[in-house]
Amino acid sequence: MDGNVVYNGKVLVAGATGKSGEWVVKRLLHYGIPVRVFARDSDKALRLFGPGVECVSGKIQSATDIARAVEGCSAVISTLGSSSYSGESSPGEVDRDGVIRLVDEAAKAGVKHFGLQSSLAVTRWYHPLNLFAGVLTKKWEAEEHLRKVFSGQGRSFTIVRPGGLKDGEPLQYKLHLETGDRLWNGFINRSDVAELLVISLWIEKARNKTFEVISEGEEAQREGLAKYYDTLPG
Ligand SMILES: NC(=O)c1ccc[n+]([C@@H]2O[C@H](COP(=O)([O-])OP(=O)(O)OC[C@H]3O[C@@H](n4cnc5c(N)ncnc54)[C@H](OP(=O)(O)O)[C@@H]3O)[C@@H](O)[C@H]2O)c1
Repeated sequence: MDGNVVYNGKVLVAGATGKSGEWVVKRLLHYGIPVRVFARDSDKALRLFGPGVECVSGKIQSATDIARAVEGCSAVISTLGSSSYSGESSPGEVDRDGVIRLVDEAAKAGVKHFGLQSSLAVTRWYHPLNLFAGVLTKKWEAEEHLRKVFSGQGRSFTIVRPGGLKDGEPLQYKLHLETGDRLWNGFINRSDVAELLVISLWIEKARNKTFEVISEGEEAQREGLAKYYDTLPG
């Protein structure tokens, strides 16, 4: 299973204390990749990951805090996600401005790869989910910024747009990837989204790709998920 892991470098995980982020940390550790988490609540990070995982605490609203967090990292994976209509955990503050700030500070610090967990339907302003303070549009604006900043100068990005998120172990389902934001519904395990983001660190075909993903039938993925990157155009 993805036996050819060739990744040297430390990865910063933003949103690590959330349900998807926890899986990203688990999968990075599974591959023996050094991890640092950026968390607003360091006690929560400590409870989840123990003292063995390095944590930088700070606010996603602070460029200075983010600069401290990204320093010395070669990649960033963000699973940040808003949880309230207004205030510091709103879509504008987290999904758009927080991610944009993270992208900018990462680029300044010399980060080479940025993996972002976005969402199905981000280009569809009329989707019912957008009633939540324009969350889809805010995510799309952050995506656009990431594509602009990380598609040149020796940098790369991978943007994963999952369907509805479920809990459960990774590598249990066949996946279906598409581009062009044409999928209207579908579900996927957070752990599989995490796996796709983690392996994007070393899979050439994951570079500079934006794609949607949902799961299909139950089917153990013993050989890993790398093969799905072969199904993407370009
Ligand atoms: N739910 C779905 O079906 C679905 C479908 C497609 C895409 N998505 C997207 O996928 C991503 C991950 O979803 P999830 O359900 O796994 O996430 P989640 O469990 O809600 O975790 C969100 C993370 O963002 C952090 N966060 C929120 N507000 C913050 C703030 N103001 N400052 C710093 N950190 C903040 C949380 O920190 P704390 O732990 O401190 O709260 C947490 O680590 C999100 O972007 C979500 O919108 C979700």
